[in-house]
Amino acid sequence: MGRSLHECRVLITGASSGIGQALAKELARHNTHLLLVARNETALAELAEELTRNGAASAVPFAADVTDAQSRKAIADWLDEHWDGLDVLVNNAGLSTHARFSESDNAASRNIMEVNFFAAVELTRQLLPRLRHGNSSRVVNVASILSHRGIPFNSDYCASKFALRGWSEAIRAELEKEGIGVTLISPGTTDTDFFEHLLTRQESSPWKKQTAISPEAVARQTVRAIQKGRREIYPNWRGRLLVWLNRLCPSLVDRIMRRYG
Ligand SMILES: NC(=O)c1ccc[n+]([C@@H]2O[C@H](COP(=O)([O-])OP(=O)(O)OC[C@H]3O[C@@H](n4cnc5c(N)ncnc54)[C@H](OP(=O)(O)O)[C@@H]3O)[C@@H](O)[C@H]2O)c1
Repeated sequence: MGRSLHECRVLITGASSGIGQALAKELARHNTHLLLVARNETALAELAEELTRNGAASAVPFAADVTDAQSRKAIADWLDEHWDGLDVLVNNAGLSTHARFSESDNAASRNIMEVNFFAAVELTRQLLPRLRHGNSSRVVNVASILSHRGIPFNSDYCASKFALRGWSEAIRAELEKEGIGVTLISPGTTDTDFFEHLLTRQESSPWKKQTAISPEAVARQTVRAIQKGRREIYPNWRGRLLVWLNRLCPSLVDRIMRRYG
């Protein structure tokens, strides 16, 4: 079954809803210590209470915007004061927009890169000394199937997730030498409020709500990936199929995508 997560110290960003929240619930069953980070203070406080009732060794809500340097420093200070090291850092906070490139703006592009890419990079850099003091430490980056294949009306999001995947691959080789593993999670469409949280959604976007995997299923597979020290997982088979098809025959996928452009 791989490593035990009993009393493991885990920080999750984007824990107030969706995949992050489901992951916190799944990890609580393994008697972990959880530091829950997101902006929505009320949602985090309610979650922390529920997790403590349901098996977490401890669950602490920490309201913070991960794009803010002061907030990231406050997270690091909290860890120094309360935990003697960090075992798992889950960079999960993320957002998107559904808009045609020519009709979207630079502010949205920068906002998406800030949350989905730079916040993960900068928080990981800040917390590396704490991860070095962890047990079998691991950085878990929640990317997407769209870190493998670009699709129309998602240019900023795809760019941010491609960047997250490239960075994850590069640091994996470096951090392994320090005993820190890196796992990439590449879910396909997941049934969360992600699509209600889009910065903008153009009416002409061809992407309607489609068959989705549950966040609980993504969470279960993510926990198994942490236990087994996996390098990357693709939680749903449709997503895995798209990645393989794109590897084998990218021009065919280009032709399919042209219909949606
Ligand atoms: N749903 C999907 O189909 C899907 C598919 C592939 C990958 N993913 C990825 O999975 C991850 C989680 O998404 P989800 O589906 O669970 O969506 P979600 O329900 O909208 O959750 C997004 C989380 O990110 C947090 N967040 C956003 N901006 C933040 C900021 N500046 N600082 C701190 N936290 C911030 C939100 O919390 P607050 O608003 O409280 O800050 C929320 O907890 C994302 O990285 C997403 O790209 C989702």
